[in-house]
Amino acid sequence: MDHPAPYPALPPHLLFGTATAAYQIEGGANEGGRGPSIWDTYCRTPGRVARGETGDVACDHYHRYEEDVALLAALGVDLYRFSVAWPRVQPTGAGRPNAEGLDFYDRLVDTVLAAGVEPALTLYHWDLPQALEDAGGWRVRDTAHRFAEYARIVADRLGDRVSRWITLNEPFCTAFVGHAVGRHAPGTREGTPALAAAHHLLLAHGLAVGELRAAGAGEVGITLNPDHLVPATGSAADLAAVERARTLHNRVWLDPLFAGAYPDNEREVWGDLVDDSLRRDGDLAVIGQELDFLGVNYYRPIKLRDAPHTEPDPAARTAVDIGTEQVAYEDVRHTTMGWPVVPETFTEMLVDLDRRYPGLPPVYITENGSAEEDLPDASGRVRDTDRIAYLNDHLTALAAAVEAGVDVRGYFVWSLLDNFEWAYGYERRFGLVRVDYEKLTRHPKDSYHWYRGLIADHRARR
Ligand code: NOJ
Repeated sequence: MDHPAPYPALPPHLLFGTATAAYQIEGGANEGGRGPSIWDTYCRTPGRVARGETGDVACDHYHRYEEDVALLAALGVDLYRFSVAWPRVQPTGAGRPNAEGLDFYDRLVDTVLAAGVEPALTLYHWDLPQALEDAGGWRVRDTAHRFAEYARIVADRLGDRVSRWITLNEPFCTAFVGHAVGRHAPGTREGTPALAAAHHLLLAHGLAVGELRAAGAGEVGITLNPDHLVPATGSAADLAAVERARTLHNRVWLDPLFAGAYPDNEREVWGDLVDDSLRRDGDLAVIGQELDFLGVNYYRPIKLRDAPHTEPDPAARTAVDIGTEQVAYEDVRHTTMGWPVVPETFTEMLVDLDRRYPGLPPVYITENGSAEEDLPDASGRVRDTDRIAYLNDHLTALAAAVEAGVDVRGYFVWSLLDNFEWAYGYERRFGLVRVDYEKLTRHPKDSYHWYRGLIADHRARR
């Protein structure tokens, strides 16, 4: 098999996994008493998702989870990260749990454990029950309390077997891509409500941490997507633009979680879009409770320049306009997401995070991977050498960060399977395993075999 040999030298303690999320793989949208989520609604809104695709069937993991867990077992991973669909557990986001929904995750967890793999469970990977959205969604404080109630229900059922708990996945996307840019559900574009969503997501996280601890669940953390932001030039204006973006992308989460404060430059960044009345005494203490780990999703750096607030087309404007503009990376490969491949920025991002936040808990890389063309040859084989190079080079960059003193404990490839890539639909493929969406069959790519070899090699030397 073609792969860059030898495998990168990796820290002996590093654990390996793959990651997925409920709406992206499960399907079974109308089964088992599942209620509708904001992504069901968003997918049905014309013009929102490419080709009008939906997660109704997705990879049909809801019916094929045993086959998928067998793929995990054969891969030899230590960990499997998946998410629970809130609307399976509480179809309207409140009240008595739906037994069939909980039973599904109970079976999944037992199957994963029986395969010798440890589950890492994400409670919220973007599929808010539609009934909660109708009552104001993340824009209202009550949703944070509903989330804590849901977290407790899941922890009471699975806390005895799940060793790692992730409250939220990439709240940046929920708050800003969902409420300011409008490219994710619920698809609104309003400044103050987007910032309200950010605060309520943080509060939801903190309240859920309390519930998870009270239920005696295992290690508890949150997954963020800290961006590595690079100024296009050394000009004062571009450096200031990066500082504003650092607040919007990173500090809005990291400062309350790990420095006990809201970003000190937030007024400068978004003026009076912040509604102080939403923040109550005691919220920061709830939000900033000690965590066992931080999950980090990382894919690519973002290069920025200062840009005046002059987007003429209101429909193309984000509601949280901080006067920056992305600049293309020249002379590097781009994945089919259009993302530049610059692996050394993975080291830089991790070291920077570690230096800026001395109180940071141990880190798990909860997602890293690449979307590629992945055309099967006549025999059906996918020779995804670009993905293998991407993973190889990012693991090398991770090892350099550990060498520089960053406490990274584990690494999850996004994703086990090709799946529903949100507004892009099924055309963007991130999987180690190809999914034939007509037949719903699974076909391990070369990268799957490469990753299996890397894990076996690492284990032999542990
Ligand atoms: C981050 C998200 O958590 C995941 O759902 C998504 O598919 C990947 N990034 C790739 O875009």
